[in-house]
Amino acid sequence: MKQSVKMIVGNWKMNGLAADLAQAEAVKTALAEAPTANRVGLCFPATLIAQAAWRLKGGAVEVGGQDCHAAASGAFTGSVSAKMLKDAGASLVIVGHSERRAGFGETDADVAAKVEAALRAGLEPIVCVGETLEERDAGRAVEVVTGQVAGSLPEALRGQAFAVAYEPVWAIGTGRTPTVHQVAEMHAAIRRALVDRLGAATTPILYGGSVNPKNAAELLAVDEVGGALVGGASLKADDFLAIVRAA
Ligand code: 13P
Repeated sequence: MKQSVKMIVGNWKMNGLAADLAQAEAVKTALAEAPTANRVGLCFPATLIAQAAWRLKGGAVEVGGQDCHAAASGAFTGSVSAKMLKDAGASLVIVGHSERRAGFGETDADVAAKVEAALRAGLEPIVCVGETLEERDAGRAVEVVTGQVAGSLPEALRGQAFAVAYEPVWAIGTGRTPTVHQVAEMHAAIRRALVDRLGAATTPILYGGSVNPKNAAELLAVDEVGGALVGGASLKADDFLAIVRAA
């Protein structure tokens, strides 16, 4: 199914100081001057969320976090809860990014618990899934990704606003992207898994991994691609806006 309203979300990862919020403000200003029908969000490092929410207030750019703890509060030194993100002004949160699954040992069960925490806090989760190159080369990509969908999406999501982001690990930050055929095959498999599991026939399924102004239109035109999760190219307003306009 083609979705007419796309969701274009930037993930700044561990990049950005206060001065860089000028880029986010430039996105806000450009969208005020020439509005888009698409949803647009930027997920900032936790340190910038409150200031970003303040500076983007009243505009079309939704503010998100990049991770949250599964607990609402407690003795978890260095962690940030979903409730804290919400309190700081976020409405979205990325959970289960491959950089957290691989670098911080997050399991599907951990991700599912974070999704539940996000929902309790009133945040819209963007749940990431994606296979490694070894898994794809072994012919296991669909099995791995649909397994992540099953394990990372709790029953609590039924009827709730959320998104899934398919991010092949080998396409992140590499400049490599899957073929349109590979994207179509995977998004169709994710849709089937979402419908079977949660009856989620219209939940946006974003594609992420080396999306840039040149390849965005082609990727976003693929069946069941409901938007994009953009890393590097979301740091500069002009590049990010070009992706928003390509959708
Ligand atoms: P890049 O767009 O830099 O490849 O990153 C993708 C990503 O991981 C977004 O979450």
